[in-house]
Amino acid sequence: MQVDVNLDKNASYKVHINELERLCFDTKVVVLTNETIAKLHLNTLLEKIQAKELFVVKIKDGEEYKNLQTIEYILEQMFSYKLDRKSLLISFGGGVVSDMGGFVASIYQRGIDFINIPTTLLACVDASVGGKTGINNKFGKNLIGTFYQPKAVYCQSEFLKTLTSRELAAGMAEFIKMAVIFDEKILDFLENLDENKFLNASLDDEIFAKIIQKSIELKANIVSQDEKESGLRMLLNYGHTFAHVIENQTYYKTYLHGEAVAIGMNMANTLAVDLGLLDEYECKRVANLLKKFKLPIFYRILNVDEFYEAFFLDKKTHHQKINFILPCGLGKACIKNDISKENIMQTLKVFI
Ligand code: GLY
Repeated sequence: MQVDVNLDKNASYKVHINELERLCFDTKVVVLTNETIAKLHLNTLLEKIQAKELFVVKIKDGEEYKNLQTIEYILEQMFSYKLDRKSLLISFGGGVVSDMGGFVASIYQRGIDFINIPTTLLACVDASVGGKTGINNKFGKNLIGTFYQPKAVYCQSEFLKTLTSRELAAGMAEFIKMAVIFDEKILDFLENLDENKFLNASLDDEIFAKIIQKSIELKANIVSQDEKESGLRMLLNYGHTFAHVIENQTYYKTYLHGEAVAIGMNMANTLAVDLGLLDEYECKRVANLLKKFKLPIFYRILNVDEFYEAFFLDKKTHHQKINFILPCGLGKACIKNDISKENIMQTLKVFI
């Protein structure tokens, strides 16, 4: 099964779902992965790749390593392997690996091709598609990066079978995000999905494939209309304005990205209820779905003023106006940049 991501200037590519058989290249190839994935799946992948020369760069596993220091390490390895401008980088891992792999590919000798082979549900349903690359620094999440599209993406449900229930749930958070902002029918589907089978990674391959396909179709539709996030694509950041502050305040160690997004969605929904965009029942429905998949929905804000100030470092803040992505009923979302400080503080105080 394939989903097309249609973009301008020959930048279009395909997302292949459960179609990875053999990859042949007449160039040097470097596989970027992390230590955890290397132990579990690297041999399986390497057996499928034929290249002029094949190298592997392994990095530490975790969002806290998504920084300039790790980028420098990857670049040094690539220079030591004498990769040239025709070489290809394959990101093999979760969102952290694909964000960093894409970033390195975009700057190595002014840019080389790269392919994403995501191994987490979160990376399959969101991070590996759309060309956002980047790293975190002390000022915030993903504040350094580029838009740089992969040449292809291969999602394989076999790699999801070794994920922990926590990692699976984190991926589910991004799928729930898609449901809330674009398609209420997905909420019905998820309410009927067996959460135990899902969290034990024992769902049928076809169901995993269906989840990935649906999410990528929705995302591809948005990205093809607004690749560089000048408007419409901002909707995909629903929950993220809050989540990025939470991740930064907890030094990227306490929550997986999807977990922070789950809390962020609940915070955004609380604000949406306060503004009359969502009713209490709809807010509860989403909270219950997040809880069904064992996702957190609450973060204790220790200092509301600090939390509020942190919004101003978000990439979506322009001219001191914070862009909040809020659901307007279920299955629809809007961008609001005129919410009063009073309303925002009222929501933040719900979480003290
Ligand atoms: N993860 C949101 C986006 O790719 O735009």
